Amino acid sequence: MEVQQIDDAITDRIQAMNARVEGLKAQDLYFYNQPISELRGGARVLVNGREMGMFASYSYLGLVGHPKINAAARDAIDRYGTGTHGVRSLAGSLNLHRELEETIAEFKHAESAITYNSGYVTNLTVVSTLVSRGDYVISDKLNHASIVDGCLMSGAKFLRFRHNDMEALEERLQQVPSGSSKLVVADAVFSMDGDIIDFPRLVELCRKYHAWLMIDEAHSVGVLGKSGSGIEEHFGMEGAIDIKMGTLSKTIPSVGGYVAGKRDLIEYLRHASRAYIFSAALPPAQAAAAKAAFEVILEEPWRVEKLNRNTNQFISGLKQRGFDTMYTETAIVPVLCGDDESAFAMTRSAQHRDVFVLPVVSPAVPPGFSRLRATVTAAHEPDEIENAMDVIHSAGKNIGLVS
Ligand SMILES: Cc1ncc(COP(=O)(O)O)c(C=O)c1O
Repeated sequence: MEVQQIDDAITDRIQAMNARVEGLKAQDLYFYNQPISELRGGARVLVNGREMGMFASYSYLGLVGHPKINAAARDAIDRYGTGTHGVRSLAGSLNLHRELEETIAEFKHAESAITYNSGYVTNLTVVSTLVSRGDYVISDKLNHASIVDGCLMSGAKFLRFRHNDMEALEERLQQVPSGSSKLVVADAVFSMDGDIIDFPRLVELCRKYHAWLMIDEAHSVGVLGKSGSGIEEHFGMEGAIDIKMGTLSKTIPSVGGYVAGKRDLIEYLRHASRAYIFSAALPPAQAAAAKAAFEVILEEPWRVEKLNRNTNQFISGLKQRGFDTMYTETAIVPVLCGDDESAFAMTRSAQHRDVFVLPVVSPAVPPGFSRLRATVTAAHEPDEIENAMDVIHSAGKNIGLVS
């Protein structure tokens, strides 16, 4: 049978995207899905056969390849194999899953925890299970796409407030008719900007207006707080979050997502959230690796301290070299470039000198705010950070962004 050719808006969209990709490839400005053949200890990677300094990693504490974590994953494969046969309730609930959830609950100072097979899916399913038609969900404008998608999917009235603006949040809370259920959702650390939510004021407002508070800790676990447990520890406000969401794919070198909270909330999610009921359990190796990683964070507190030192060096060094790093206070460091072309040119120039950074361009960020989204981790040494900043500086000079 011949493949049919349809001339419509779907075809137009496919062609427009592919034309943009081809145009960028022709100019050597295409950095999407570059093949990494080796992760060398977290701080270095082999890309297209070239060794580069890794400044695009989410492995904030440098735990990729940690011997204890690798050994836990290998052991789990030896004991259970590589799969779980299916969903937890019907085929695949292992002791390992329960142990991982207990470890997460303890790490997050919560009564209980539930895991899902990705962070994206966690937000999607948890938001859409907790709120539905007739309820209100209120979200920061820069929240991660998975939160936005969960809000849209829920059918609840979806209100958004200006990024990190607590007056705007209060206005939204006042718009909710009395008696309606309200869920407020925000990232702890914003994934493109690296800034931290105004947590004390956010909590105060949720308490004042009797709203549930859900915080996405994808980029704050291992990063915020003396022991790396996250935003509550950072602000000395243990117990402030009702729904503590996080991922197992960033600081934790595995894959998956979780929610920690009160026992009755977690029991409810276990019986009502569709991604738990209708999607396969985490593979044994990933569950075991994640469990071991939470333990390593507590056993090796020097990693959080080193990450803090490296973050300070990176942000202040880039500022001294004339870059605008926006409001970041964390390991995610935006280097503002302006238009998409500048961000692409900076990336090419940095990669040609073996510093692996990647661009973030519109529509992921507003037009005019394209940037390098650089990251620093506990795996870097001070001289590697200094060298990367010098390379980024000369890339910036090449395009006239800084002097
Ligand atoms: C803030 C935030 N939440 C959720 C996710 C989704 O997590 P995962 O990649 O583990 O699915 C991400 C991933 O980039 C994120 O940055």
